[in-house]
Amino acid sequence: MRPSDAQNPHARPAGREAGPSHAIPSRPAVFLDRDGTLVDDVGFVRSPEQLVWYPGTVRALRLLGDRFVLFIVTNQVGVARGELTLDDVDRVHGHLVGELARQGVPIRAVYACPHDRGGGCACAKPNPHFLERAAEEHGIDLGASFVVGDHASDMEFARRGGARGVYVLSGHGERHRGDLTGAESAVVPGILDAARWILARAHPGPSAPSDVARAAEVLRRGGLVAFPTETVYGLGADALNPSAVARVFECKRRPRFDPLIVHLAEAGALPSVAAAVPEAATELARRFWPGPLTLVLPKRAEVPDITTSGLPTVAARVPDHPLAISLLEQAGVPVAAPSANPFGAVSPTRAEHVIEQLAGDVDVILDGGPCRVGVESTIVGLAGGRPTLLRAGGVPQEEVEAVIGPLEGPPRPGGRPLAPGGMASHYAPRTPLVVRSPASFQPPPGRVGLLALREPPSRSGYAAVEVLSPSGDLREAAVCLFAALRRLDARGLDLIVAEPVSESGLGRAIQDRLRRGAGPR
Ligand code: TXA
Ligand code: MG
Repeated sequence: MRPSDAQNPHARPAGREAGPSHAIPSRPAVFLDRDGTLVDDVGFVRSPEQLVWYPGTVRALRLLGDRFVLFIVTNQVGVARGELTLDDVDRVHGHLVGELARQGVPIRAVYACPHDRGGGCACAKPNPHFLERAAEEHGIDLGASFVVGDHASDMEFARRGGARGVYVLSGHGERHRGDLTGAESAVVPGILDAARWILARAHPGPSAPSDVARAAEVLRRGGLVAFPTETVYGLGADALNPSAVARVFECKRRPRFDPLIVHLAEAGALPSVAAAVPEAATELARRFWPGPLTLVLPKRAEVPDITTSGLPTVAARVPDHPLAISLLEQAGVPVAAPSANPFGAVSPTRAEHVIEQLAGDVDVILDGGPCRVGVESTIVGLAGGRPTLLRAGGVPQEEVEAVIGPLEGPPRPGGRPLAPGGMASHYAPRTPLVVRSPASFQPPPGRVGLLALREPPSRSGYAAVEVLSPSGDLREAAVCLFAALRRLDARGLDLIVAEPVSESGLGRAIQDRLRRGAGPR
């Protein structure tokens, strides 16, 4: 019989590295709850056959395993209640650790408490016993570590040990969400989202020139590179390589009928993708490139149909970001890049946003700091007929019109979109969003968040308030828009109320994003 009293809490070391080793430097770890977090919570697990992995578990742990020491920490009260034996628990964990190792995921140790919760043992979560033990035995820096679990007690465990807790809605998470006491740092749908959230917090910071050189090579070989632009982060692939472009659509789960913008290192490269460059295009390029303006022109045959969704036109721009330009120059190919987020979701304006949504799906994620425009480029159609505003964006319509005269459009809401990105629902947070003036709107009961342009007349009735620009400056508001929307979306609110902005200058782009964020899903 194994020791199972409080003085000798049951812990099964996994792998050869286990055991005291005080000499190793302090390293961050992720402590993973088992049932409801890594595997289905099916009650007492007596044998390995009962383990059912969640679909994202192995991918998530591979991502985390590159940077963190991994532990599993689980309360197995079934032992104290006579529902299963310590040998059962051991066998299950032996299998679990072996299976993960076979898939390239090293688990340093599995800590299991076999006691009854009412028994006052030292090792059951939320007591931080196993965190402290890992710190001592394996040189873990708890302040840089995370706990992932589907119970409020996992979050309390994290807090008491000085680590950060990530609450997953899998297992009991959704049902017991009301038990949360605020000890959690984040609430996410499942283990893969948890891994990405953690990686975004542990990420090393701005990319070095050598990272950019490596990313350029990845692009030339048909890989995917997320990179900063002045508007939003893009998810790039060689625009002339159909299978590389196909990966962009797959990665974003983007419908194939929604064409991509081709990014060029300089305006002089425009004739390499456009079959004709009218005078208006030359003038706009001279005035606004590099910058947040995209021109739609007749395409050259070299640009594959998948990049333009079969359209006879191509959208092109030169981004105004030193890292993007350096990447494009070194890649030596035009780079097709939609915003680096899952289709329809809020666009990323920091590398951390990309990591949170796409880590593991992209070959390289470059970090060039926060985007300084914050909304996507303005798209102008110049492929025949009158110049048309296809999407409001970072260059105000008025400034385009000052160069080439009045623009047609934009398309009416509900009408067939001219630019496929004109779809009614886009830029949407998970939380329902409505656009209403806070001055005349009474927030409904529940947890309501407010996304306001300026400080609202009153904050009462709102669980969270984000002010985009205290002085009401639209440029500042555009820069902050998507990040503020993301912060509200992470608060577990029932509703987000967004204050409408006037539709002139950059306000047109902001209002367009709000309207579509609120569009029917
Ligand atoms: O600021 C931006 O434009 C960012 C950064 C990464 O450059 N990119 C961006 O891409 O916003 P995306 O995929 O989110 O939006 C591209 C838009 C889509 O609405 C698409 O329909 C439109 O450009 N578009 C692309 N090619 C087009 C074409 N040939 N004709 C009409 N619209 C086109
Ligand atoms: Mg659990």
